[in-house]
Amino acid sequence: MDERIVTNSELEEDTVVESSIRPLTLSEYIGQEDVKQNIRIYIEAAKMREEALDHVLLYGPPGLGKTTLANIIANELGVNIKTASGPSIEKSGDLAAILSTLEKNDVLFIDEIHRMPSYIEEILYPAMEDFVLDIMIGGEGNSRSIRINLPPFTLVGATTRAGDLTSPLRDRFGIIAKMQYYTIDELVQIVKRTAKVFEVSIEDNAAIELASRSRGTPRIANRLLKRVRDFALVEGHGIIDIDITKKALQRLKIDDMGLDDTDHQLLLAIIEKFNGGPVGIESVASSIGEEVTTIEDVYEPYLLQQGFLKRTPRGRVATPLAYEHLKIEYQSDLFH
Ligand SMILES: Nc1ncnc2c1ncn2[C@@H]1O[C@H](COP(=O)(O)OP(=O)(O)OP(=O)(O)O)[C@@H](O)[C@H]1O
Ligand SMILES: [Mg+2]
Repeated sequence: MDERIVTNSELEEDTVVESSIRPLTLSEYIGQEDVKQNIRIYIEAAKMREEALDHVLLYGPPGLGKTTLANIIANELGVNIKTASGPSIEKSGDLAAILSTLEKNDVLFIDEIHRMPSYIEEILYPAMEDFVLDIMIGGEGNSRSIRINLPPFTLVGATTRAGDLTSPLRDRFGIIAKMQYYTIDELVQIVKRTAKVFEVSIEDNAAIELASRSRGTPRIANRLLKRVRDFALVEGHGIIDIDITKKALQRLKIDDMGLDDTDHQLLLAIIEKFNGGPVGIESVASSIGEEVTTIEDVYEPYLLQQGFLKRTPRGRVATPLAYEHLKIEYQSDLFH
């Protein structure tokens, strides 16, 4: 399990306080303005018609607030939410069991929907389209198919990899929303909001410092805040000011762009072992001992977005910005 402090995957310590810091309404949900504006209208319309909201697909890197938004959608609709994750739905009976608990217009949230087995997907299509479930019962020669009517419901699917969804599944979502990295300003608001929940005071410049090192990701911002709060308590005056923030971040080995040791290793490997690239992702992965999918889902998106890394048809390339950031002289390859 990935235990980096700046990992955007969920750590166990996150879930403990999660319920207290998760916004519950759209107006408390900071940022993602485009997504929010549209969803607000669709929710309003669904309520006016007393119909289920269209199925919603949320996609984007981990920690940007997909699970939070799914819960908010149900809350704003005034309905129940049932939660499952793609890989946990192994048999058609598992899906039937969840679907049978739904009441009219409820939300079914399926996290990591790209990891759902394909035969489950096929049972899901008629459920999404016509609110019916066709399942096989019995077996060994006397199996038969029975049809169960379902109440209208809204499927909210979340995925970090929209590209891994089959197109028939993707096509069945009426609302598709891409989550964006948060601006520093939005992260400042999130950090301040969480500080209020924690009943700790944080100075403005400290909040800005934290926000700018959080990789555009609320989960990381909240986690860094928790760590800095500990430093402020033990080694400071209990108030989170800029000095204690910088000191804590230095101890946590997070640089001024929010990059940590693993990011440095990744960029350094490309620069030093592969002459800055282009190099295949597999080679980079094995040289730093990480899984390809972890690099693709967790580390790389932010490095790409910030322009440290480029994806080319022939592989990954470290940009001049990466050299500059790591204080290595950039040498453009004369042979290319
Ligand atoms: N817009 C927001 N405003 C305030 N807090 C937010 C916002 N988005 C996310 N958060 C906070 O960030 C944390 C992570 O959010 P969440 O668990 O919803 O991310 P996720 O996209 O579902 O991640 P994953 O892909 O790993 O499941 C939560 O603690 C949540 O409270
Ligand atoms: Mg989630």
